[in-house]
Amino acid sequence: MNIQEITQAAADLEKKSAEEVLRWSAERFPKIAFASSFGAEDVVVIEIIARLKLNIPVFTLDTGRLNEETYEVMDKIRSRYGISITSYFPERAAVEKLEREKGFYSFRESIENRKECCSIRKVEPLNRALAGLDAWVTGLRREQAVTRTVLPKLEQDAAHGNIAKVNPLADWTTQQVWEHIKKQNVPYNRLHDQNYPSIGCAPCTRAVKPGEDIRAGRWWWENPEHKECGLHKQ
Ligand code: ADX
Ligand code: SF4
Repeated sequence: MNIQEITQAAADLEKKSAEEVLRWSAERFPKIAFASSFGAEDVVVIEIIARLKLNIPVFTLDTGRLNEETYEVMDKIRSRYGISITSYFPERAAVEKLEREKGFYSFRESIENRKECCSIRKVEPLNRALAGLDAWVTGLRREQAVTRTVLPKLEQDAAHGNIAKVNPLADWTTQQVWEHIKKQNVPYNRLHDQNYPSIGCAPCTRAVKPGEDIRAGRWWWENPEHKECGLHKQ
């Protein structure tokens, strides 16, 4: 789709439900996939894809540093919805070099080092996952961060060869996400019950305190405007 078509379709989709956005995307884009980190939003998207029997395969970026609880929910989702999950690993040689030269917690030392780790463990595998696709789906929401307030439901992804990027839950609130999970009895990451509203890699995620921002536990040593790992460029 060119930028005019995307802009037009995005305006139409803005008023549509997540179900309608996902159905439209599955019909419009023959080569589409859902990037799932199995957080609360992502299990909602998988439930909708499965219930509507949409042809949208699910992949995950297995950084090698995920929490045990994340693998547990992946396996629960896999059996509940009878889907296979394709995991993309980082390049072995790049991880070996990084750990040999900078140790196992280099991401704590500077934003530059943190971005290097995210680049090796997330960005490069994402590029491989998206190669050849027409579109990808995410669980991004506007409410999540200062960097996401103007997120459309459909956009052109300049960082990934101008393929389409579909954000069906863009206008959902946290409350809507949790109501959907409860109503449809969707398996979810049990870290959410321990004050982890947003979950990434284990060493870069911690629980939040009451009243703290929902992404306060992600890269908590950095300022909010830096808290993107490179998967989602503005
Ligand atoms: S991140 O950029 O800060 O890590 P966040 O955890 O908020 O992103 O997740 C936003 C969306 O990015 C998810 O809904 C999902 O679509 C995608 N995503 C994030 N992490 C992964 C992952 N490890 N594997 C696949 N998709 C991911
Ligand atoms: Fe590395 Fe942390 Fe980024 Fe995961 S979130 S890839 S461990 S810097």
